[in-house]
Amino acid sequence: MSTIKRIGVLTSGGDAPGMNAAIRAVVRTGIYHGLEVYGIYKGYQGLIQGVIEPMGARSVSNIIQRGGTILKTARSDEFRTYEGRKKAYENLVKYGIDAMVVIGGDGTFTGASIFQDEFNFPIVGLPGTIDNDLYGTDYTIGYDTAVNTVVEAVDKLRDTAGSHDRLFIVEVMGRDAGFIALQSGIASGAEQILIPESVTYIDKLIQKLRTDYSNNKTSGIIMVSEGDDFGGAMEVAKLIKAEFPQYETRVTILGHVQRGGSPSAFDRVRASAMGFQAVIALKDGVRGVMVGTINRKASYTPFEKAIKMHQAMNLQMLEIAEILSI
Ligand code: F6P
Repeated sequence: MSTIKRIGVLTSGGDAPGMNAAIRAVVRTGIYHGLEVYGIYKGYQGLIQGVIEPMGARSVSNIIQRGGTILKTARSDEFRTYEGRKKAYENLVKYGIDAMVVIGGDGTFTGASIFQDEFNFPIVGLPGTIDNDLYGTDYTIGYDTAVNTVVEAVDKLRDTAGSHDRLFIVEVMGRDAGFIALQSGIASGAEQILIPESVTYIDKLIQKLRTDYSNNKTSGIIMVSEGDDFGGAMEVAKLIKAEFPQYETRVTILGHVQRGGSPSAFDRVRASAMGFQAVIALKDGVRGVMVGTINRKASYTPFEKAIKMHQAMNLQMLEIAEILSI
């Protein structure tokens, strides 16, 4: 039987659409099961500073549709130090919190893993990042919304690209992962997709542009992940301008717009189910894992594995994108 009576919930690292739906699920599932739930503001930094407040079912009303995170978020340097983590632990003791749900990406789970080993404190994680780069889950909260944001933007760029006969080089987020670029590149019919998981061969890129030109393509989209080995969209644009001075090229860096906005129905549903599962896991005595979804079923992956291993990418999708953009 679980002895947990009071849980804390926080969001950490880059925000992601759907985090609010996850918070709502954690708070309401906790309350439904007779637990007290405390919100910890500004991630681990707020935990260190003791910015902690009780939450009720009504604290999470009307947030399922909102982007960002009502608990705010931060990347905490202090939590990387033992002194910082000790302060954080002391605040958990002070507030009588027995366990935590942390929502974030690899940095969040790295911190959680160290903290729970040092203080023997039960923590369960939820994958909240637009990057979709965590091992042990088919989807991370926020990824679907971010992809839809990119597709919507590229659809608009296509209009102007077509009108002016221009080539747009679009840079999307994904520090170390190309999931957003690949998914949104396929969905928007990009002519080329450059991602860190596959080496970018410049000769191939140039050859494809030549072929497109001879196939009477007068406009196009090159989707570049910010983590691509060749560099970002600016680098690609420089190269194209040097090789094809006759082309009109434009660069669009979508940036943090990808992190905002109302979450898609898919993200809301996944976040709700995962938030629910996180509380059930803690109640069942599970700890030290990220609760994810594999083949539509709840999955538990130890933090170290979720961080160190990489989510597999279906690289055949690159080939599909190439064939479909002739
Ligand atoms: O990890 C999510 C992410 O949005 C990455 O895709 C991006 O590289 C990074 O965060 C940006 O971080 P910051 O919010 O610190 O600018």
